[in-house]
Amino acid sequence: MKIAIVGGTGLTSLENLDIIRSEMMNTPFGETSSPLSIGRIDNKEVVFLARHGLTHNIPPHKVNYRANLWALNEVGVDTIIAVNAVGGIREDMVPGSLVVPDQIIDYTTSRSNTFFEDDLTQVTHIDFSYPYSAEIRNVILDSAKNNNINIIDGAVYAATEGPRLETAAEIQRLKQDACDIVGMTGMPEAALARELSIDYASICVNANWAAGLSEQLITMEAIEQTLLEGMEQVRQVIVQILVGQAYD
Ligand code: HPA
Repeated sequence: MKIAIVGGTGLTSLENLDIIRSEMMNTPFGETSSPLSIGRIDNKEVVFLARHGLTHNIPPHKVNYRANLWALNEVGVDTIIAVNAVGGIREDMVPGSLVVPDQIIDYTTSRSNTFFEDDLTQVTHIDFSYPYSAEIRNVILDSAKNNNINIIDGAVYAATEGPRLETAAEIQRLKQDACDIVGMTGMPEAALARELSIDYASICVNANWAAGLSEQLITMEAIEQTLLEGMEQVRQVIVQILVGQAYD
């Protein structure tokens, strides 16, 4: 197993990672969001990529998802744990809580979302009935349990285009669609991983109540503040996966 962590808002680096080399990679689709940091935690090899760039300057709809996934595949990654900040829709998705989604509905509109479009010898449709790897989801859930960290098992992730947040009516529609959380980076990342046969799962941190579900204005400051604590727990879960028995 060669594992990569794709960090989102609030997680642009991994402490405890002894970086062996940092590689900016060019791919047929352009450059990755950040150099790949290839290193070790407790002697286990791990690759880290900051989805929004090291200075958090690439908005969700401008992330070069294809370059990121291509490069990770090129260095031999076969397992990805993605970290995503989300807004909570379902009642238990309170700000600060962690959740491992099990389904996705894709509402994005303008992203390059496949590797299978040019120079095809035949049309390819991947199976995406269950977008996340059951095995990696369980590894994450077990790790949280072993650390006494509360984590919710299962949610439907609504991937919106952004970069603006949703309207209250859009959130009501997502709720009617049975979406539990909403974020801007879950797709096409998960689908591209599946196209490359990379096992993929996500840890989401609820940063705020989704639009119209609380009295409060949704501000970047409030989101970042809420994420601080949640991301610390995410780090613990990830480190435990790497040093623990779950990952050889
Ligand atoms: N909507 C979409 N993406 C998000 C949100 C939200 O409310 N919070 C964090 N990422």
